[in-house]
Amino acid sequence: MIRVVESLKEVREFVAASLRRNQKIGFVPTMGAFHAGHLSLMRQARKDSAIVIVSIFVNPLQFAAGEDYDRYPRQLAKDVRMAESEGVDLIFAPSVAEMYPKGYATYIDQTDLPNKLCGQFRPDHFRGVMSVVGKLFNVITPDTAYLGQKDYQQFLIIRRMAVDLNLDVDVRMLPTAREEDGLAMSSRNIYLGPKQRKDATCLYRALQRAEELVGGGTNNAARVMSEMKRVIQRVKGARIEYIAVVNSETLEPAKEIKGKTLISLAVRIGKARLIDNILV
Ligand code: PAF
Repeated sequence: MIRVVESLKEVREFVAASLRRNQKIGFVPTMGAFHAGHLSLMRQARKDSAIVIVSIFVNPLQFAAGEDYDRYPRQLAKDVRMAESEGVDLIFAPSVAEMYPKGYATYIDQTDLPNKLCGQFRPDHFRGVMSVVGKLFNVITPDTAYLGQKDYQQFLIIRRMAVDLNLDVDVRMLPTAREEDGLAMSSRNIYLGPKQRKDATCLYRALQRAEELVGGGTNNAARVMSEMKRVIQRVKGARIEYIAVVNSETLEPAKEIKGKTLISLAVRIGKARLIDNILV
């Protein structure tokens, strides 16, 4: 039977009991509104670990004023049922006051990676992500944590944070889950109206075009980006935030595509800000 707890005290007790039994803990941090991508992370955690813990917390620290914190989808009862069918042992769904009580004043930050790609458009976003994930790692003490490739930059930053803070957790990335037409699954896709939903496939189509070019021997990053831009610009109402071809470890812009390279983009369609990427 799945357990749902709201307090840090209950999580600590659950974790302590698991550790006493020498059970490995797999952890999936989420903001809820589950889709198949979340479930694939839970499924992998279930395969790897005796205990699977999932957190559901729409973290106000990672939303800037004017972003979608208030309308971010919240569906705890449904999420609990979905997690239960994946064999999750514990859901931690704290309130904002539980995570950030009055007087809260401590944040985790990082130089370098958080200022790149999405960080240029969402300046304090990754500070908020690291602060909450750092707190969760500290309390849950997972052996392995699972994140999706759609948020590749987030994965890199969290992995770096875990290394730098000597947190004994293996941060693993799993492939992006996609709809049949290629759109990367995201809890934010519900912001898209029917026409916008069709338009949103332009991100995947642009990435496919990039893959095709690279597969065909093109290694000029500027050429790849300009072809991607053409694909997106054909869609009226799609506004490009960025298209980038970068080194997959440093996120530094690449002139030439050689070695492991990340091709990544962020596009606004209506009220949704969509991101996607591939590694080539
Ligand atoms: O990717 C997310 O859902 C969030 O950024 C995370 C990692 C749960 C932190 O709030």
